[in-house]
Amino acid sequence: MEYSGTWREIWTQKGEMEGGIDDLYIYDGWEKSKADIKTTAYKIRKELDIKPDDRVLEIGCGAGALAQYLECEYIGIDFSRSLLKKHIEFFGNSVLYGEANDIPFKDKWFDKTFCWGVFLYFESLEYAEQVLREIVRVTRSGILIGELPLESHDKKHLLYTKEMFDGWILEDAWTKKYKGKRFIAKKREENL
Ligand SMILES: C[S@@+](CC[C@H](N)C(=O)[O-])C[C@H]1O[C@@H](n2cnc3c(N)ncnc32)[C@H](O)[C@@H]1O
Repeated sequence: MEYSGTWREIWTQKGEMEGGIDDLYIYDGWEKSKADIKTTAYKIRKELDIKPDDRVLEIGCGAGALAQYLECEYIGIDFSRSLLKKHIEFFGNSVLYGEANDIPFKDKWFDKTFCWGVFLYFESLEYAEQVLREIVRVTRSGILIGELPLESHDKKHLLYTKEMFDGWILEDAWTKKYKGKRFIAKKREENL
């Protein structure tokens, strides 16, 4: 299927595709790297030390490809209503429609927040700065953002520099294909 328009339109068109849970990786855009998703979810769980009673926010939760592997008090936010509908249909999670730069929760409401495969779709670095401020505001003890592109094959992807993440713990991409090309940014409780 061909997608066009803004990223918001593209992610909405994705969610409108006819299909079921077997198409989950297509909905969430992982059709070319499906083998990595379960491993990635377990690494996120481990990195953030996610426990069953932790309140965890996923920004850009899509249809739930990563969320399906988490055991916690989960809440997802996304700006594609059609993907949110799929997420509810497949997993029955608590998810809400919204923009990543305007998170409708109180300060430090979440124990942990993660955002995976989303920052490259933001409209500008200014928007991304707003998202970073919102994530820090609503999170109490751990943040993980990945994988942030330094370069990309796709001209429509927003690129980042490590300088933008002053005060964050940075590491190279987990995915072999993106080593040296993408990075991960984290904050622990002592930096929040
Ligand atoms: C590659 S998918 C990743 C989905 C999920 N995190 C996963 O790993 O399975 C990117 C998701 O980010 C969402 N997204 C992109 N920009 C967003 C924004 N500005 N606010 C909220 N959601 C956004 C898209 O709708 C899409 O569901």
